[in-house]
Amino acid sequence: MINDKRYSDMIYKRCGKSGVKLPAVSLGLWHNFGTESDSQNRRDLLTTAFNNGITHFDLANNYGPVPGSAEENFGKVLHSDLKGYRDELIISTKAGYLMWDGPYGEWGSRKYLTTSLDQSLKRMNLDYVDIFYSHRFDPETPLEETMGALASAVRQGKALYVGISNYDAEQTRRASEIMKAEGVPLLIHQARYHMLNRTIEEELLPTAKDEGMGVICFCPLAQGLLTSKYLNSIPKDSRAAGKSVFLKPEQITQELVTSLNQLNQIASQRGQTLAQMALSWVLRNEEVTSVLIGASRPEQIIENVKAADKSQFGLEELIEINKILDQMPFIR
Ligand SMILES: NC(=O)c1ccc[n+]([C@@H]2O[C@H](COP(=O)([O-])OP(=O)(O)OC[C@H]3O[C@@H](n4cnc5c(N)ncnc54)[C@H](OP(=O)(O)O)[C@@H]3O)[C@@H](O)[C@H]2O)c1
Repeated sequence: MINDKRYSDMIYKRCGKSGVKLPAVSLGLWHNFGTESDSQNRRDLLTTAFNNGITHFDLANNYGPVPGSAEENFGKVLHSDLKGYRDELIISTKAGYLMWDGPYGEWGSRKYLTTSLDQSLKRMNLDYVDIFYSHRFDPETPLEETMGALASAVRQGKALYVGISNYDAEQTRRASEIMKAEGVPLLIHQARYHMLNRTIEEELLPTAKDEGMGVICFCPLAQGLLTSKYLNSIPKDSRAAGKSVFLKPEQITQELVTSLNQLNQIASQRGQTLAQMALSWVLRNEEVTSVLIGASRPEQIIENVKAADKSQFGLEELIEINKILDQMPFIR
C-alpha cells in the first residue's frame, strides 16, 4: 500500500543550481540488496522509504554482492511494488569500479562508461536513469573523455543528469568546466562525509557551491557507528559483526564507544537519537542537498527520516560537539 501522505513530512532541497530537488534523506542500496539478501526485506525497505517521502534511490553497477545484483533486485521491486511510480523517483547509478574482465571493465574510458550504463539499464529494466555518475576519477584517461561519455549519456536520453563521485576539489573544478563547455553541467557530487570524516569541508564543499553543483553525502552514519547500535556492545546482526570488509569490530574501541555515548547525550538533549543528530549535523551545511543513508531494516529508515527538519544547531551545541569530535579517531 502506498501512503497518500508520503510527501507531507520530507524536506526537498534544490540540487545546486539545477531545477531538480532531492529529498533531504535518500536511500542507497550498497548493502542489503545483493544476491543473498532477503527479498521481502528489500521490498519493505524500498516501500517504507517511498512511503516516508524518500524519492531518491542510489545504486551502482557493482553493488551486490554479486556485482549487478542490487540493480537487478531493485528493478524487480520497482516493477512490482512501486509499479506506476517511476515518474516520482530519482534513480541513480554509477560506473567506475571493476565490473568485468579485460581492459574495458573499470575506470573512466568512454568504452567502459557507455557499455556499463547500457548493462545497468538492462538489469533494472529501465529506459533511462535520472543520474549517472563517474564513480571515481581515472588518472589515466583524459578527463575530457570521461566527461564526454557522461555528456553523451544525457544526449542519448539514457541519463537525465550526470554527476561525479570521489573526485577531489581540483578534479571537480576541471570536470565542471569541461561539462559546462559541453552544455551539460554536472548536477551533483557524491562524497563521503560524516562526523568522523570532515575531509570535504575545507575545499570540496565550497568548490561544489562555486560550480553550482549539489552535494549528496554518503556513509553519513559512518556505516552505523553514529547510531545507538554500538553504544553498549557490537550486536550480532550489525554490519560490524557481519562480513563487511569496510567496518570491522576492532574499529569499535572502548574510547570510541565512550565518545559515542557523549554524543548520544547531546542528541538526547536535542530530542533526537544519535543517528538523527548525525544526519542533521551533515544537513546543517547549506551546500549539502541530501544525506545518503543505508538501512538493514525499515525501522531504521523511519527513525532516520525524522532528521530532515532538524538541521539547525546552536553555536553552543556545535562547540560541545566539536570538543567530542576532536577526541575521536578519523574513520574513513
Ligand atoms: N560513491 C561512493 O563511492 C559510495 C561509497 C559508499 C556508499 N555509497 C552510497 O551511500 C549509501 C549509504 O552508505 P552506508 O550504508 O555506508 O551508509 P550509513 O547510513 O553510514 O550506514 C548505514 C548502516 O548503518 C546502520 N543503520 C542505519 N540507520 C540506523 C539506525 N537508525 N539505527 C541503527 N543502525 C542504523 C545499518 O547497518 P546495520 O547492518 O548494522 O543495521 C545501515 O545499513 C550506499 O548505499 C551507497 O548508495 C557511495
